[in-house]
Amino acid sequence: MSYENLAGRTAVVTGAASGIGEAVAVTLAAEGARVALLARRAERLDAVVEKIVADGGQALAVVADITDDASVEAAVARIHEAYGTVDLVVNNAGVMIPNPIEQAPVDEWQAMIDTNLTGVLRITGAFAGDLGEAAARGGSADLVNISSVAAHLTGFPGFAVYGATKAAVTHLSALLRGEFSPRGVRVTNVEPGVTQTEIASRLDAEGQEAIGGLVEAFGALSPYELADVVAYVASRPAQVNLRQVMVLPTRQV
Ligand SMILES: NC(=O)c1ccc[n+]([C@@H]2O[C@H](COP(=O)([O-])OP(=O)(O)OC[C@H]3O[C@@H](n4cnc5c(N)ncnc54)[C@H](OP(=O)(O)O)[C@@H]3O)[C@@H](O)[C@H]2O)c1
Repeated sequence: MSYENLAGRTAVVTGAASGIGEAVAVTLAAEGARVALLARRAERLDAVVEKIVADGGQALAVVADITDDASVEAAVARIHEAYGTVDLVVNNAGVMIPNPIEQAPVDEWQAMIDTNLTGVLRITGAFAGDLGEAAARGGSADLVNISSVAAHLTGFPGFAVYGATKAAVTHLSALLRGEFSPRGVRVTNVEPGVTQTEIASRLDAEGQEAIGGLVEAFGALSPYELADVVAYVASRPAQVNLRQVMVLPTRQV
């Protein structure tokens, strides 16, 4: 796929050390965007940036923890210094820690809320001014939030809190259009279905079995198939906002 009008854009992708975020960063850079890659693992970010640069792209590794105010403030300063105003923000970083509610693992609930919801808010707030400025200059400006089909799934034991954080992201995306759309900034909520990434490998045996069952039943998307969708929505003419995109393996119901 080729998306000509991504050339010259300045993007920030959170969670770009692996999986969907890595694929989005590589894809946007291949289309000529300058891309700041955020995550906590420096080595992984450096490896992705090296790959992008070796292929002729422009990329910047920014080690940051989206759950931490000071870390995000420093990251924003670094990105502004290197690239100036950002016009495409992809809120992709997320964690999934399935657990039965009766175990009351407050720290795990908090980690998902802090990353999947408050982290998204922190990054959105940090770059809201940039997006408004970019749109005011007459260019495209995009906020793309990576939610999940889990925002809608029921009957999937152990994933209630993860699903609740993603439902919050989906609803937040819709509500944020009230603030961003009048300023010419698009907000797109992307809800992936089963996608082959590291996210499941961090789960305990029970969690891996649950996800393994989904992969067996439905197959799985590749992170680059998700990246293709992000590149597509961000490269439409500026007045076209795909507000909500659910992307599933064809067999996933
Ligand atoms: N895979 C699926 O089936 C699927 C389906 C629907 C939705 N999603 C969503 O897609 C997004 C990407 O997930 P993925 O599947 O690509 O999994 P992944 O490979 O585990 O990617 C998650 C990324 O988020 C980063 N991250 C986590 N916590 C962070 C923090 N506090 N600060 C900064 N970066 C952080 C991780 O890097 P560091 O550890 O280096 O920080 C990693 O690069 C998530 O929001 C996930 O919920 C995935």
